[in-house]
Amino acid sequence: MLLVARGMAALTALAEELTATGGEAHTLSLDLTAPGAVAAIGAALLRHGLVCDVLVNNAGQGLVGAAADLSAADQLGILDLNLRAAVALALAALPGMRQRRQGGILNVGSIAGFMPGPGMALYYASKAGLRSFSEALWQEARGHGVVVTLLCPGPVRTPFLERSGAGKARIFRMLPKAKAQRVAIRGWAGFRRGKRLVFPDRLSWLIARVAPLLPRRLLLGLLARLQQQR
Ligand SMILES: NC(=O)c1ccc[n+]([C@@H]2O[C@H](COP(=O)([O-])OP(=O)(O)OC[C@H]3O[C@@H](n4cnc5c(N)ncnc54)[C@H](OP(=O)(O)O)[C@@H]3O)[C@@H](O)[C@H]2O)c1
Repeated sequence: MLLVARGMAALTALAEELTATGGEAHTLSLDLTAPGAVAAIGAALLRHGLVCDVLVNNAGQGLVGAAADLSAADQLGILDLNLRAAVALALAALPGMRQRRQGGILNVGSIAGFMPGPGMALYYASKAGLRSFSEALWQEARGHGVVVTLLCPGPVRTPFLERSGAGKARIFRMLPKAKAQRVAIRGWAGFRRGKRLVFPDRLSWLIARVAPLLPRRLLLGLLARLQQQR
């Protein structure tokens, strides 16, 4: 396994945990939005004699606030990480997976991908883009022995809520927060079963299914109110 993030401390701790259970885990400290990130991952895989059998596109960031109030660079950075980097890695990994007729991609999306999100517009847009790409790839890849799954959690108790400011928004305060480990286990199990979409619990499934059925103006007004910080 090759673990990639910017912070080395968490990577090292996780690699030690995985190695202790008999796995082989390597680390790579890398900003996925940096130019040459895909090539750096390819080089690291080569160095360790690995191929990308399963790609987990998990890294993601969000930012709460009105688009006009937030920094344009920060918001474009969300698109760069949540969508562009995930797509670039998928495009790099897919040909090999198809050739070997095995493996696949587990994209970490969100229920945010099923609706527009006033007050967190770029995050919701990035997850909608990832959802569209992931579902299309699922169809394209399925005849080639390759699985592409989109995991769609609702709020999860992780540092994301603090980092993005989402933890203070009404909607995130109201909804129960899932445990990260449970979400990961459900996502992995769904991927292994070849599922296109995985909802880790009933609530995330219900929200993702009901929101698109609501009249758009009603949904937008509701979300704008719920996304407000308290
Ligand atoms: N938490 C939620 O409520 C929730 C709900 C639905 C979906 N999700 C999705 O779940 C995924 C995981 O998020 P999380 O909740 O676990 O958030 P998190 O605790 O903030 O973790 C984000 C991870 O991404 C890495 N990362 C961030 N920016 C990066 C960059 N530029 N390059 C490389 N790695 C980077 C972080 O490591 P470094 O900072 O060390 O780089 C960290 O490992 C995201 O895609 C998020 O959108 C989260």
